[in-house]
Amino acid sequence: MAKANRVYKTKAPVVKNQEIEATVIDITYQGMGVVKVDNFPIFVVDAIPGEIVRVSVTKVLKSYAFGRVTRRIQESENRVQNANKIAITTGIAPLANLKYEAQLAFKQHQIEELFKKVNVDVDVAPTIGMENPTGYRNKAQVPVQMINGKLETGFYRRGSHRLVPIEDFYIQDPKVDEAVRITRDILRELGISAYEEETKKGVIRHIMARRGYYSHELMVVIITNTKKLPNSDLIAEKLSAKLPELKSVIHNINNHDTNVIMGQWNETIWGEDDIHDQLMGKDFVIGPNSFYQVNPQTTSTLYALAAEKANLKPTDVVVDAYSGIGTITLSVADKVKKIYGVDVVEGAIEDAEKNAKNNQITNAEFVLADAPEQMAKWADEGLKPNVVFVDPPRKGLTQELIDAVKAMNPEKFVYISCNPATLARDAVQILAAGFGIEGAVQPLDQFPQTTHVESITVFKKAENQ
Ligand SMILES: C[S@@+](CC[C@H](N)C(=O)[O-])C[C@H]1O[C@@H](n2cnc3c(N)ncnc32)[C@H](O)[C@@H]1O
Repeated sequence: MAKANRVYKTKAPVVKNQEIEATVIDITYQGMGVVKVDNFPIFVVDAIPGEIVRVSVTKVLKSYAFGRVTRRIQESENRVQNANKIAITTGIAPLANLKYEAQLAFKQHQIEELFKKVNVDVDVAPTIGMENPTGYRNKAQVPVQMINGKLETGFYRRGSHRLVPIEDFYIQDPKVDEAVRITRDILRELGISAYEEETKKGVIRHIMARRGYYSHELMVVIITNTKKLPNSDLIAEKLSAKLPELKSVIHNINNHDTNVIMGQWNETIWGEDDIHDQLMGKDFVIGPNSFYQVNPQTTSTLYALAAEKANLKPTDVVVDAYSGIGTITLSVADKVKKIYGVDVVEGAIEDAEKNAKNNQITNAEFVLADAPEQMAKWADEGLKPNVVFVDPPRKGLTQELIDAVKAMNPEKFVYISCNPATLARDAVQILAAGFGIEGAVQPLDQFPQTTHVESITVFKKAENQ
């Protein structure tokens, strides 16, 4: 009896600075290689499964440790030679050391493992990849810091807030990188300081740049901790002289002590309040705070596939929950009788309404609300859509939303996910609500060189409801 309550103190089988030799057996969701000593995991940057490495242990915690590769004894055939070191070590592109085919296989395997973990038996199709998997991101949100008295832009070293200056972000559209560089140079020239987290002094926190892939319209947002952006007119004038594609310069204030990058207050200091881009033959207005898929090249494939899997009919009533600026809603509106979108961000719903109007779409209706609450409301009011699309943020769905979909009992419930961990978690509840999974989960590589993966899963109506 006493035995059951006894706490066994396990001791890590390695100590700091110890050198070990081991085979890399896996990659973590942060893109680190995993080696094990007596089943005790050690996480190592830039180590690929199958490689035999010499590792120096750098930090030991209770149930895992970190290490650094001191020698690569045997390299994997999946290793990219001369890969972008900074992209790997900062974590901007932690899979840049892995050949692209192997990245796609890793993402498929990652989803398979997550479903296995929650005991859901499902097929996962091979990941649909990109032809040119670099320079694809249409948006940058770059932290700004003073280093040796100079304003620098870059990315944080892994697990820290220490900035590594970077000019080429490897996965970002080079025109977006250029906009960040030029903004940085102008801020330097005008002697404007970066905000310091420790002292809570200084001005600039982040620079955001977004460029329409098809429209080539460029927006620059300067995010400050202070209410004023010094010399804002001069900054805008200099930016417009140097960036011919520039359409909009916005000052955004974020004086909250949080990891959220943008605040809610925006002032347009030059040009338009938003930019446009085209997707699936429709025109979209995109405001500074609105979500817009970061990989425009794969987004069309994602939406087309989601619509195809939904098997939409002209008589269908459809709900698009977490609709953003209405990209999914409006790209399928022509195929159905009526479609409802819901999003919690006011600017996104304003954009969605403008987008419906600009594209002469009259059968789409958007609601500004919390998606689970609005879905519960619609279910109570007796709305019975034929198809429900959900495309939630990384935290996934709530039980309230799943219960509402259960009450609506659509023929198809199409789940677009950017986080397979929450997808697998939610799948358990969706299956418990009586739905089945139709076909295979389809991963798509919206985020090449990173460990992130998008996927589409179609749940179908319960037979006996
Ligand atoms: C992954 S994005 C998808 C947007 C859109 N479907 C697209 O593809 O562009 C998730 C969206 O969920 C919205 N969102 C986050 N939390 C929400 C909530 N509680 N209720 C409604 N919308 C929410 C965000 O504003 C964002 O637009």
